[in-house]
Amino acid sequence: MRIGILTSGGDCPGLNAVIRGAVLKGVAIYDQEFVGFRDGWRGLVEDDVVPLTRHDVRGLSKQGGTILGTSRTNPFENNGGPDRVKSVMDKRNVDAVIAIGGEGTLTAAKRLTDAGVKIVGVPKTIDNDLSATDYTFGFDTAVAIATEAIDRLRTTAESHHRCMVVEVMGRNVGWIALHSGMASGAHAILIPENSVSLDQINEWVRLAFDRGRAPIVVVAEGFMPEGMEHPHTERGLDTFGRPRLGGIGEQIAPQIELATGIETRCATLGHLQRGGVPTAYDRVLATRLGMAAIDSVVNGTWGTMVALNGTEIIHVGLDEATMVLKTVPQHRYEEASILFG
Ligand code: F6P
Repeated sequence: MRIGILTSGGDCPGLNAVIRGAVLKGVAIYDQEFVGFRDGWRGLVEDDVVPLTRHDVRGLSKQGGTILGTSRTNPFENNGGPDRVKSVMDKRNVDAVIAIGGEGTLTAAKRLTDAGVKIVGVPKTIDNDLSATDYTFGFDTAVAIATEAIDRLRTTAESHHRCMVVEVMGRNVGWIALHSGMASGAHAILIPENSVSLDQINEWVRLAFDRGRAPIVVVAEGFMPEGMEHPHTERGLDTFGRPRLGGIGEQIAPQIELATGIETRCATLGHLQRGGVPTAYDRVLATRLGMAAIDSVVNGTWGTMVALNGTEIIHVGLDEATMVLKTVPQHRYEEASILFG
């Protein structure tokens, strides 16, 4: 069999480890051949194909980014849909595709499977917001990077007796904020799932400051305080379609300073959280997922996705992964909030 691999959507530490795991097991155990489609679905609909041999994946488990490149191209948006995908696969003698991506990618994969394309999915997102899998690779790395950054920001904040607001990624969910905030001992963690008022945030900041601490506020980019309007309609744009100048961290930092009188700075971590080498945990998880994806292909279980359940890799329907976002449960936020202030 000839198998095509693509990585689609925002990149994520561990993507290369998935590719390596799939190719090494596919070659060694099942004697399969591989090609890569460049830049996600774009490579598949535009017939942009590269060879993917055992040699090409050497040493990849520790390499950040993706050797195949990625994009947010959707095969269903003016890109020919299933007919185009099938004709490129036929031309290249590709029997099946392993699609590594987040919600958008897996939704497209499901629609293509329904139209008769042989696809297996691998879940990917630093946000950890995909259902049907306990963790996604990339999340552990993002949390480790954010935690180290917050530890560093704390020492400068302490030296200056300042409050530090740290904005982390998480458009729809607060997993990175929750875990990095707990790991670094933040005095407030703000997540999209749980809106709180500016008054409440200011109270946590004051309590920490009055105990002689430099207050640390970790905020997920999708958080919005009670009663405040969302400053932008689309990612990267404000309500007038102009480039967004600052995220939610930049918006609340001056308000904290004004209300508490405590000098406050904001650091937005942004794409740092997606760059560089994956943690050992993510390398192992990503490699195991890649190896399990090849089992699905050989078994012909199209329309499924590999997933982590406890410590075991399982196979679930793509629809289970894409139906609802995995948000932070209320009890996890309440547990963390015992430590605020
Ligand atoms: O979905 C992963 C993610 O990193 C989000 O946390 C973030 O909002 C988004 O991607 C950023 O996307 P882009 O790289 O397109 O700016």
